[in-house]
Amino acid sequence: MKDIKVFVSSILPVIGIDMLRKENFNVVTWNDKTPIPQDILIKNAKECDALICTLTAKIDAAFLNECSHLEIISQFGVGYDNIDINEATKLGIPVGNTPGVLTDATADVAFGLMIAASRKMFFMHKKIEKDEWKHFTPTSNLGIELKNKTLGIFGLGRIGNEMAKRCKGAYNMNIIYHNRNKNTEAEQLLDAKYVSFDDLLAQSDVLSVHSVSSNETKGIFNKAVFNKMKPTAIFINTSRGALHNEEDLIEALTAGRIWGAGLDVTNPEPMHKNNPLLNMENVAVLPHIGSATVEARNGMSRLAAENIIEFYKNNRVPNLVNPQKAT
Ligand code: GLV
Repeated sequence: MKDIKVFVSSILPVIGIDMLRKENFNVVTWNDKTPIPQDILIKNAKECDALICTLTAKIDAAFLNECSHLEIISQFGVGYDNIDINEATKLGIPVGNTPGVLTDATADVAFGLMIAASRKMFFMHKKIEKDEWKHFTPTSNLGIELKNKTLGIFGLGRIGNEMAKRCKGAYNMNIIYHNRNKNTEAEQLLDAKYVSFDDLLAQSDVLSVHSVSSNETKGIFNKAVFNKMKPTAIFINTSRGALHNEEDLIEALTAGRIWGAGLDVTNPEPMHKNNPLLNMENVAVLPHIGSATVEARNGMSRLAAENIIEFYKNNRVPNLVNPQKAT
């Protein structure tokens, strides 16, 4: 593959880069931890045949039309809302991603945020730092327990399923879900029940979001929706910040329309350091670290490289997200 040039738009775990170099691809990488500026991304992509990118690269219609010569794009990540898939499809560019390898890592973060929010952990930790921990108080700092509560999953795919397993195993939670399609495996294994979106809102003690970001789901968790949830409910989002309206979430928490929240994704990212969510008692926020384990990131690097290698060697993309591509 000597003449095939691959541009990698972020510093990635070396495993995938080594795989590509072993197959004699000519690999060029952006060597800075900050996201690549758009003009430099375009300039480099123009000189390459294939691209590996991450969620911080804006692969919109303008980019794709300037770089329509690209033969394949491989996204280091399972979500690909930074890529205009319709445009890539129209241009006949196959797009691959890296599902599966980050499922456990992301479910762990959802599960951790649920516990952290339910016991006010991040807020109480800050009390110590601020020298505000003075004594044991029997009636203060009270969280809520999770045992036998109802977990509602919005988007029961791989990650939602692992979150549900953790909640069932640890707390015997009752699992309900709302999805595009019924998940019969989860229904059998976890006794999960499919419910309407309104029933999901009305019945969930913890509502955990695991859906893709799409035109149908963007902004779906808004004021009207938070108003339909239990005042004791905890909202968890580890998928994409675009799914919730952050102003509405702040208002719902402030007004006590819902009880708490755990976010690994925010809207926008990065979250501003003065965001009121960071000082709320029942809220835990993380900076999009769902897939940030050695195991997951190595797996993502490997799968991102495999998409490229298999495309050139065997004319197939193992994790293709746009099989309907025109050419
Ligand atoms: C991370 O957020 C991913 O989509 O892989």
